[in-house]
Parts: sequence; C-alpha cells; structure tokens
Amino acid sequence: MFQFTLLNTDSESAARRGRLQTPHGVIETPIFMPVGTHAAMKAMTPAQVEETGAQIILSNTYHLHLRPGEGLVEKAGGLHAFMNWKKPILTDSGGFQVFSLPKKKITEEGVFFKHEVNGNEIFLGPAEAMAIQNALGADIIMAFDECIPYPATHDYAAKSIGKTLRWAENCLKAHKRKDQALFGIVQGSVYDDLRRDCAKALTAMDFPGYAIGGVSVGEGLELLKKVVDYTAPFLPENKPRYLMGVGLPEDILESVERGMDMFDCVIPTRYARSATLFTSRGKLRLTHRRYRRDFYPVDASCSCYCCRNFTRAYLHHLFNANEILSAILSAIHNVHFYLDMMAQTRAAIERNEFKAFKAQFLGRYGFSGA
Ligand code: GUN
Ligand code: ZN
Repeated sequence: MFQFTLLNTDSESAARRGRLQTPHGVIETPIFMPVGTHAAMKAMTPAQVEETGAQIILSNTYHLHLRPGEGLVEKAGGLHAFMNWKKPILTDSGGFQVFSLPKKKITEEGVFFKHEVNGNEIFLGPAEAMAIQNALGADIIMAFDECIPYPATHDYAAKSIGKTLRWAENCLKAHKRKDQALFGIVQGSVYDDLRRDCAKALTAMDFPGYAIGGVSVGEGLELLKKVVDYTAPFLPENKPRYLMGVGLPEDILESVERGMDMFDCVIPTRYARSATLFTSRGKLRLTHRRYRRDFYPVDASCSCYCCRNFTRAYLHHLFNANEILSAILSAIHNVHFYLDMMAQTRAAIERNEFKAFKAQFLGRYGFSGA
C-alpha cells in the first residue's frame, strides 16, 4: 500500500525527485504539505485547497484529541470522510504541541498536561498517540517524540533522544493499522553526534519513512542547514524524508538541496491572514498605502484564482475593511505560491538543474542570505 520510488537524484546536489504511493493517492516529492490543524485549512474549503495543487495536507493529534475527540472522528468514518478531503493526510503525533505547553510533566512514560478548556488532566505517551492516530486514520502518522527546545545542553539532548528512541520502539509495537505508514522522528538538537546516533538507531528499527524534528525552534537557517547536512546522510536512501515545521521558501529550497523530500508549515496560511503575500519577487505587505491604487495582480506570474481575478488594490481594500474574503484570497495565493515553488523544484531536479534553479528563484525573490 506504501511504496516510495526514488526517480532521480540531482547530479550536482543531494536533491531528490521521488514518488510516494499511499492508500489515498500518489505524492510527487519534494512536496509541501499545507496545515489544517483542526481538520480544516484556515479560510479555505477542501475544493479550494485542491485547486492550489495540494497533494497531501497535515492535521494534528493533539488538537483533534482535545476536540472533537478521535472517537467522534472515527464514527464519522475517519478524518478523510469527516473533513471531506479525499487525498492523502498526515497527522503529527502531538509530540511537538504537548512539549510547547507551558505547564506539563514529562516522565519516562509520556507527558501529563491539563486540557486547555476544561482543565482535566490528560496523559499522552507513545501508545496513546498511536491509538489516537489509528482512530483518526491518516495515511501517514508520526511517532511520539520529544521536540527538544533550543538551546539545549548536550547532556539534556542525549537523555532526551534516549527517551525518543524508547518511545519510537513502543510506537512500532502499538501501531495497529497496515494502511497507515508510521514515520520515525530524528531528534538530537544541534549536536552532530546525537543526530547521527538517533538516525542510525531509528534506521535499524526500519520505519517506512523518517522525519527530522526539533528544527525551526529558533536556531536559524545556518544551523538548520548544518543539522540537515549531518543527519540526512544517515537516513536510508530509499525512504521518504520529512523536515518538520519548515518553513520559509529559502529554508525549504536549502533543505531540498540537502536531500529532504517533505515539508509542512503554517507560514503560508498564517502570513495570509496578516496581509503578507509571497511573490516571485519577494513578500508584499498588502496593508501598505502603496497598494491603494495598484491595479496589478498580487503576482503577475501566478496562475491562482486570486491572481487571475483580483488586484492588489482590491485586496488592500479587503484588508482595510476587515473582510473575511481578504483571508480566503490571500490563503489561496500563498498556498498556491508554495506548491508552485515545489512543482518548479521537481521539474528542476528532473533536468538535473536544481542548483541553478535555486539561485535564480532566490535571486528574483530577493533572498541574499544563501
Ligand atoms: N513539528 C515541528 N517539529 C516537530 C518535532 O520535532 N516533533 C513533532 N512531533 N512535530 C514537530
Ligand atoms: Zn496568486
């Protein structure tokens, strides 16, 4: 039911062009996964998400466990039926959300925390995270891990990956469904020896896919590149590699160059709601006065529904008037921009020209840090 095929590797970099077969369809990699935390993309219908070219979306164990509860989603026929999204879905394990809560108690078994709304004590560990994700029914599910805060000492990070590895074993034992692929998550903060050890230990457990977690936690692009540089070579070549929670266009392209296949981030939809739109020539802040009489599309080279039909002046007006349509049109454009960047990325790898493509893309975009 799951099959990852490596179609080709770029001749000048570690960039990979792949294809991942899942029960709900094929995913062409490298790919960006838009985020629908509460089983909904913010300000977009599933039909609109599909029109942007999305092949897979992400949702969250933590949020859906608290509300409406995985039992209800299961009763509805699973996440795909409940939210009417027919393509692949990936659920994150809750390992990230729970560890970012202010009040929690971490033990060898898992994490205790209080329900945000009713104050009840809740426990989440590897077996619980698997039972919840088995009930939700996503195509790809994630192991329960500790996302180590940044900065962390080598000592803390070493102890933490010990726990993440024991939890990974328990996740494999607790995982019950053959129609869901369980991915292992490499942690280890910014320490090359810990990342290597964690990647090797997880590889020995033989997961159908691997993620690098514990990045985009404030370490910055230079350290992110280093972490990917010294982790990716220890992951099996014939399995998909997912970089969790990344990121800005420049973060994604730098990580594709280093051999990563899958990405997710709330940035395109979150920035859309605060009037920041991505274009081939950089980001625009559409609330700025300079767009009041600007009758050009957001990006003349974009083929999305927003750019085909509306002007910057109209979006500027919608934001000023606090109209809900501002968020809808901006989300459609930003998600389309990310997915179009990934489509161009895949085409460039097929031509063995990824590095030239990256330089041209980031040059026009105005990113000078690479
Ligand atoms: N999302 C972003 N980073 C992480 C991580 O380290 N672990 C998990 N489970 N989810 C994430
Ligand atoms: Zn557009």
